[in-house]
Formats: sequence, structure tokens, C-alpha cells
Amino acid sequence: MALWRLLLLLPSLVSAQELNLRSVVRRNYDMAKVSGVWHSISMASDDMTRIEENGDLRVFIQKIESLDNGGLKLSFHFMLLGDCVEAAVVCEKTDKNGEYTLDYKGNGRVLLWETDYRLYITFYLHSVSNGTETKVLALYGRLSELGPSFLARFEKICKRYGLGPQNIINLSNQDPCTKYKR
Ligand SMILES: *[C@@H]1O[C@H](CO)[C@@H](O)[C@H](O)[C@H]1NC(C)=O
Ligand SMILES: *[C@@H]1O[C@H](CO)[C@@H](O)[C@H](O)[C@H]1NC(C)=O
Repeated sequence: MALWRLLLLLPSLVSAQELNLRSVVRRNYDMAKVSGVWHSISMASDDMTRIEENGDLRVFIQKIESLDNGGLKLSFHFMLLGDCVEAAVVCEKTDKNGEYTLDYKGNGRVLLWETDYRLYITFYLHSVSNGTETKVLALYGRLSELGPSFLARFEKICKRYGLGPQNIINLSNQDPCTKYKR
């Protein structure tokens, strides 16, 4: 009996981890639905030194909050001189839905690229620091891992920004701070 139940349940668990193109939202975002817990899955950049070990943009998302003033608060972890640090940044809204400005390590423009609210979200960050422009893409998941269909879609988005597989790193289950928690 129990086994039958499990067998009936399995396909729905697996399909829940498949990207469903019909649920992908790319504009007119409902930011309240973006709020909540997220995990870093993947990141890409045209300057790998900034997202690799010790990179200043190698951050692990914890949660996103949509603020009353239309801003977006991102809370994350990162490592600083071997210590786990918690931090938050607030992205200010612009007059374009899903677009924000960010005052962190220079000036940045943050773009919500797409999401299905339920499983994944993709952001694009264009950072200008000291006259140097850097492109960063980030894939976050509601779970600490996402299936291959999500990763393949992220690769495609990266390609549109001229970033290939050599520019993409895996951050799934690699948050160095989780071992200090609980
Ligand atoms: C910005 O550039 C100046 C001059 O090249 C340099 O001294 C400074 O360290 C740079 N700052 C950052 C944050 O990279
Ligand atoms: C990413 O890294 C984690 C932790 O090392 C590993 O469990 C996972 O399989 C990796 N994912 C991919 C897609 O390589």
C-alpha cells in the first residue's frame, strides 16, 4: 500500500523539478511573489575573479524581500577573510518594472530577467566600479538544487550576454556559511 503511494507520488516530484515554460514570467512582475527564501544555484560573469573564491561578488543569497517603497532587499552570505558574513543590500526601484539600481561596490543596475516565482529566478547585474564594467548573471532556486532544465536555460540566457560555459560557476550547496548555522 505504502509503496503504491510512493510510486504514484514519484512522477509528480520529478516533474515539479522540471522547468515549465508556461509558468515563466518575463514582465509585469508581481514582486510580492518574489519575496521569501532563495538559494544560490549558479552565477556567471565576464570577470571570473569577481565570482570565484574570494571574489567580491561571490555572494550566497538567503532571502529577497519586496519593500513597501518598491525597493528590493537582498540578504546574503559571503566569506570575508575566512569568516562568514551576513549582509543585505537594498536595490532601489526605477520606473521600469523589474529594474533596480544598486549602490554596492560601485554603481549597478539590477534586472529581474525571468522567474516562475515557485522554483527559480534569474537576475542580471551590470556593475560599474571605478570605470570598469562587469556583467553578472545569477540563478537562484527555492530549493538548494535545481534540475538540468533550469541550468540549461540559464546557460542560454548567459549566451545572450556573450557568456559561455567557461564563465559559469556552480554554487549549489556550496554556501560556506550554512555549516555555521543551526
Ligand atoms: C580605483 O582605481 C584607483 C586608481 O586606479 C585605485 O587606486 C583604487 O584602488 C581603485 N578602487 C577599487 C575599489 O578598485
Ligand atoms: C554543484 O556542486 C554541488 C556541491 O559540490 C554538487 O552537489 C552538485 O552536483 C553540483 N551541480 C552541478 C550541476 O554540477
